[in-house]
Amino acid sequence: MAIRNVAGGESLSIFERSWQTYHLLVAHDLMQHHALGQALEQRLLAWLAERQVAGLSSALAMADLACGDLTTLAPLLRQLPLRQLEAVDAAAGVLQQAEARLGPVPYPCHWRAMDLLLWAESGAEGPSGTWDLITCLFGLHHLADVDKWRYLELVPRQLAPGGRLLIGDLFRLPGESRQQYLERYWARVNSWTVLVEPSRQLVIDHMASSDYPAEGEQFVARAASLGWQTRWLWHGPDRAEGLLELWLPRQPRPAG
Ligand SMILES: C[S@@+](CC[C@H](N)C(=O)[O-])C[C@H]1O[C@@H](n2cnc3c(N)ncnc32)[C@H](O)[C@@H]1O
Repeated sequence: MAIRNVAGGESLSIFERSWQTYHLLVAHDLMQHHALGQALEQRLLAWLAERQVAGLSSALAMADLACGDLTTLAPLLRQLPLRQLEAVDAAAGVLQQAEARLGPVPYPCHWRAMDLLLWAESGAEGPSGTWDLITCLFGLHHLADVDKWRYLELVPRQLAPGGRLLIGDLFRLPGESRQQYLERYWARVNSWTVLVEPSRQLVIDHMASSDYPAEGEQFVARAASLGWQTRWLWHGPDRAEGLLELWLPRQPRPAG
């Protein structure tokens, strides 16, 4: 499958080979999934109330990019008033696991094996305004910055009026180089006593080959230059993990 990550297919191997390692990180909340999930849920419930006041439908069409096996989102997806879900991941094998984890839901789901940037590019050719909500959790940091900017440039065409893009991901601090970021994060990984070898080395090697987080404030500035409005909803204690809400200002109606 065509894949636009800096490390190509290599960046998927940790997920294809060892979901147990990722689940261990989530179960022990080592990457702050719990707090991120709570911040996401809180914001989505508030946003649904805002939509109701604005007379917008609360039956959402949602796309989740880099869905993995829906470790983080499945509980929320069982609560949200969706009218359809598109779940996209470049690791084709994980989609069945995602479907099984989600279980029965009262809306149609489409499981798509695809690179998230190619998804944005292909949607850009189609009709606009398809999705009310697009989420991407821990997926974008695999792309080079130039491709993250391209993603930010393309996605607006797929967002319905009043829609939201929610990005939960890893970010660098202002002025922090990739190497400084990696060393800072590796110090954390080395303190994770639940992670025994070879899993710890697997995580460290995956980060070395595949993690290219954007500098958080540069990401926001780039988004703003492309017309997005943004708001940080949450940061982890050392600001490596963050949750960002992005939306597009409403176009004024033509006079007359
Ligand atoms: C850390 S997991 C996150 C899974 C899920 N979003 C979560 O938060 O629990 C990263 C996922 O991103 C997927 N992924 C990595 N690069 C991708 C790309 N370019 N396009 C689509 N999916 C990608 C991997 O296959 C993996 O399932």
